[in-house]
Amino acid sequence: MIETTLDLVALRTWGAALGALAARERVFVALFGPLGAGKTTLIQAICVGAGVTEPVTSPTYTLVQWYQGAGGRIAHADLYRIEDPRELAPLDWEDLESGKFPVFVEWAERAGTELPPTRWELRLSLDADPTLRRVRGVALGGAPAVPAPATEAARAEDETTC
Ligand SMILES: Nc1ncnc2c1ncn2[C@@H]1O[C@H](COP(=O)(O)OP(=O)(O)OP(=O)(O)O)[C@@H](O)[C@H]1O
Ligand SMILES: [Mg+2]
Repeated sequence: MIETTLDLVALRTWGAALGALAARERVFVALFGPLGAGKTTLIQAICVGAGVTEPVTSPTYTLVQWYQGAGGRIAHADLYRIEDPRELAPLDWEDLESGKFPVFVEWAERAGTELPPTRWELRLSLDADPTLRRVRGVALGGAPAVPAPATEAARAEDETTC
């Protein structure tokens, strides 16, 4: 389990590491957190790490947006407007939970019990400092461990060695 507080730069760096592994292992990534917590920001970084070169925006009107990543297709869903998990069926939810693609889902709580048992859960919350976000990451089922964000000390080290 990962639990830490990240600024925007650290969150983006962590997201890129998450995306590289998620794409390789085709992880289903469920994101939780209130409005403005940083779900889309984190997914944008995850997509960069997964090799997506096109711009990633929030798919609020389409609900599911497919991108081309380094190793194949990648799905980004935003379930904010879903009121009942039964609305997932027409969204090709079976494809999304098949394990054949990396999948990144905002407002994953809207999927209720329809989330696949093997997944990452990433929870974002606001901090008293508006430049920081608290993050928690956990791997469930057969998912690989969630990579730990680089610590301040490790990043300072990188900067001096680069
Ligand atoms: N440490 C941080 N990590 C992530 N985002 C941050 C951080 N500090 C400031 N921000 C800002 O917070 C905002 C997060 O917005 P974002 O759209 O990613 O949230 P969201 O969780 O997707 O919201 P919504 O539920 O409305 O889609 C961005 O404007 C981002 O620049
Ligand atoms: Mg969003």
